[in-house]
Amino acid sequence: MDFLELAKTRYSVRSFAPQPVEQEKVDLLLQAAQAAPTAVNFQPYRILVLQEQEALSKLKDCTRYHFDAPLALVVLADHATSWKRKYDGKDAAEVDAAIVGTHIMLQAVALGLGSTWVGYFDPSALREAYHVPENLEPVAVFPVGYPAKGCKPSAQHTQRKPLEEIVIYNQF
Ligand SMILES: Cc1cc2nc3c(=O)[nH]c(=O)nc-3n(C[C@H](O)[C@H](O)[C@H](O)COP(=O)(O)O)c2cc1C
Repeated sequence: MDFLELAKTRYSVRSFAPQPVEQEKVDLLLQAAQAAPTAVNFQPYRILVLQEQEALSKLKDCTRYHFDAPLALVVLADHATSWKRKYDGKDAAEVDAAIVGTHIMLQAVALGLGSTWVGYFDPSALREAYHVPENLEPVAVFPVGYPAKGCKPSAQHTQRKPLEEIVIYNQF
């Protein structure tokens, strides 16, 4: 599969088969995350891997979008170690974490898995459930697993603005 095909094949999977994700595949998801570029290569992020029942059940107190997935990864941005732009103090932590999350989502597709970027969670509940220190900001939760039989993209998956609307060439 070439890259564009992979990118287009990805869709938000919100229904999972109960079968667990093999540890070798979890390792590959984490290696894809590790390969992500970050500002000044500071790598200011952490990833929580939730695969045991107790850890997964706590996620249900943090978000309704857990989809009963057999695995969830939580990407946390580390504001203590991230690059800050000198001109305006802009903190790259969240951007770096977003690239990490994107690598995870695309690697999942390459492995026959599915996931959804979940931003709708209660950050305080998540901090409490997983003892997240102050400097780490939960950016996204990724429920991951094998798509349930018959799982298909939502209508939103095909709704993309035309390129003419989103691209600006050579504007002066
Ligand atoms: C930053 C961000 C936050 C999102 N939060 C949620 C969420 O909390 N729950 C959910 O079901 N989907 C969530 N999504 C998935 C989007 O709804 C989805 O990507 C979009 O509708 C396009 O559909 P597709 O991923 O199937 O192409 C989120 C996506 C992004 C990028």
